[in-house]
Amino acid sequence: MSKTANPTIEQIREEALAAAKSVSTTADIETLSIRYLGRKGAITQFLRNIASLPPEARPAAGKKANEVKAILEAAFAEAADLLNRSETAFEASIDVSLPGRPVARGALHPVTLIMRRICDIFARLGFSVAEGPEIETDYYNFEALNFPREHPARDMQDTFFVSDDIVLRTHTSPLQVRVMEKQAPPVRIVAPGKVFRCDSDLTHTPMFHQVEGLMVDKGISFGDLKGILTAFVHQMFDEQTSLRFRPSFFPFTEPSAEVDIRCVMCRGDGCRVCSHTGWLEVLGSGMVHPAVLENVGYDTQQYTGFAFGMGVDRIAMLKYGIDDIRKFFENDLRFLTQFE
Ligand code: DAH
Repeated sequence: MSKTANPTIEQIREEALAAAKSVSTTADIETLSIRYLGRKGAITQFLRNIASLPPEARPAAGKKANEVKAILEAAFAEAADLLNRSETAFEASIDVSLPGRPVARGALHPVTLIMRRICDIFARLGFSVAEGPEIETDYYNFEALNFPREHPARDMQDTFFVSDDIVLRTHTSPLQVRVMEKQAPPVRIVAPGKVFRCDSDLTHTPMFHQVEGLMVDKGISFGDLKGILTAFVHQMFDEQTSLRFRPSFFPFTEPSAEVDIRCVMCRGDGCRVCSHTGWLEVLGSGMVHPAVLENVGYDTQQYTGFAFGMGVDRIAMLKYGIDDIRKFFENDLRFLTQFE
């Protein structure tokens, strides 16, 4: 209501009608009725003031005030009715007895879980994480890792070629070279990521995951390699899991070793998973070949190092007892949500 001492009856009417249009609850209408029609309301006030008007003006003013009073009563009643009807309609549209909608919870992919676990274990051993491109040059994927062109060792990996010089990386070992090119020793990194090979059966998919590891410093020996990998296997599986280092060949390491662990299924008695040998191959490793160190300009008189590479999907299969690698990539939620 306006603050002028004595509003005219017209002013009261306009103001009250405008207010009745903007109510949003029945409580608002209650407030308006009190303000305009109540015992201390604007209309009552106006009627009282009539006594101070000249006698001839009183009847007309009284009549007018009563008319406005009736108009306002009707307007407030209509506004209340409108509100009531829409509130009832809204309530009728809600069925409070319906069950709630469940919120779907996501879960990390089992391969992601194992990948993180591997990187966490190496982080605690002082290794940091390095990443690089999945589409790689021949130089980083092969040449710098001491696979000369036409060398039969290239056939160990069924490569997807993008062009003569560009490949989908067949392993995460190119990260060894990329990291050493940028950084002087000491180096202590792990490189997780996707790799690609033209291969597909129960235990192979054209895309899979590896974690590469590299440690280079003064005085690094095969003993360090054994110590770090033994610590890793004990944390990844358990303290009782024994390892064996089997001589092997990789062009970028000399000497090279494959690492087997005691079969996690049969504990060495022999079963289908370990092809009745009692052992499971989990890692490739070796002392970094001096030719690789020379390719990145490291002084091979001062520095030595070891490297290793492992298949993450394979370790996930062993950890979770899964016999078909393709299950990881079929996106069946009944399978994937079991590994939270
Ligand atoms: N890059 C090898 C592969 O994909 C695995 C590997 C073996 C990595 C020995 C290494 C290593 O760093 O020293 O088969």
